[in-house]
Amino acid sequence: MYDVEKIKKDFPIFRQRLNGRPVVFLDTAASAQKPLCVLDKMRAVYETAYANAHRGSYAFAEQITTEFEAARQTVQKFVNAASAREIVFTRNATESINLVASSWGEQNLCAGDEVLISQAEHHANLVPWQNICAKTGAKLVVFPIADDGSYLKDEFEKHLTEHTKLVAVTAMSNVLGTVFPIKEMAERAHGFGAKILADACQYAVHNIIDVQDWNCDFLAFSGHKTYGPTGIGVLYGKAEIMENMPPYQFGGDMIDHVTYQHTTFADIPARFEAGTAASVQAIGMAEGLKYMQALGLENIAQYEQELIKYTVERLNEVPHLTQVGTAKGKGGVFCFDIAGIHPQDLAFVLNKENVAVRTGHHCAEPLVNRMGYTSLARASLGLYSTKEDIDALIAALCKAEKFFRES
Ligand code: ALA
Repeated sequence: MYDVEKIKKDFPIFRQRLNGRPVVFLDTAASAQKPLCVLDKMRAVYETAYANAHRGSYAFAEQITTEFEAARQTVQKFVNAASAREIVFTRNATESINLVASSWGEQNLCAGDEVLISQAEHHANLVPWQNICAKTGAKLVVFPIADDGSYLKDEFEKHLTEHTKLVAVTAMSNVLGTVFPIKEMAERAHGFGAKILADACQYAVHNIIDVQDWNCDFLAFSGHKTYGPTGIGVLYGKAEIMENMPPYQFGGDMIDHVTYQHTTFADIPARFEAGTAASVQAIGMAEGLKYMQALGLENIAQYEQELIKYTVERLNEVPHLTQVGTAKGKGGVFCFDIAGIHPQDLAFVLNKENVAVRTGHHCAEPLVNRMGYTSLARASLGLYSTKEDIDALIAALCKAEKFFRES
């Protein structure tokens, strides 16, 4: 039994009242709220065992190093990686993708090669590829999606060729909610000798990831979206690929031996973790993942599916509202436009009702433009979202629609 009221109580921020009323938080796709266990864990580390991980040989240093490496194992289990060596801690998913673009990209791309992405990518999975393609002479190819936001298998297969060296695709769009079939796409990509990177920023919040079953070569996601802190993210990479990749950044802890003339580098994953690790953040991130696992990823997904259906139905009740991104099986993000009301104005009115949504291009300007807009409002769900939250959203939207129509 998924007791969402009880779950909501795990998140101290929801105890807060603004202007005497609760906050309706519908912006988890941008960043999730944090359960008490994450906050407690991080505080406990700072209070009882803080030191620089992988540096000292005194008690605090050994304790935090042990906890930091245990966090890596928690992430390994969360994505079902074969080894903890395949888990690199980064600053966020954006840095994870930049790492692959810089390290793998510079080594493996040249003129005549292609990087294939979908039209549904956010900037984090688009701009790093633009940049590395410009540097190496490779070409960035973008395959279309359908007008309703659906994945188009034929278009993917048409654009995948013997020139494709890498497919970089979102597992779930942060604008449309469209879920992409990574396992099937990986099989096709590998058939052409290409590698595949899955951007799981949104997918990781809602569903089970299995990098071995998907057979993806790289996968990225962030701690702050999976109910953990900011400043920490993950890159999963197959060991046999990462072992042959050069470092991305240079400095402490990523070395083997250093002389004034020459440096040899550490094995993976340390090779990609230059400088003091965000150890407490990694430990906090692991706590967020354990929280999700304790609830059960299947249970979260099942609960959210019901809420998605409810949200789609209720949004259809709002006059002059168009939902953008209506692919079958979509995840819990809902972009929409209300004819004649700028999303920024809409958000202003919603904020007065304590309803928090995101507006703008959602770090995916080309995608929002491709869907025919320059700006959209977006409501997104987390594991603590309720039907009452959706009812409050609909009531506020109807109020705003009436206000702007009559003014
Ligand atoms: N990519 C994040 C979002 O969708 C920031 O809002």
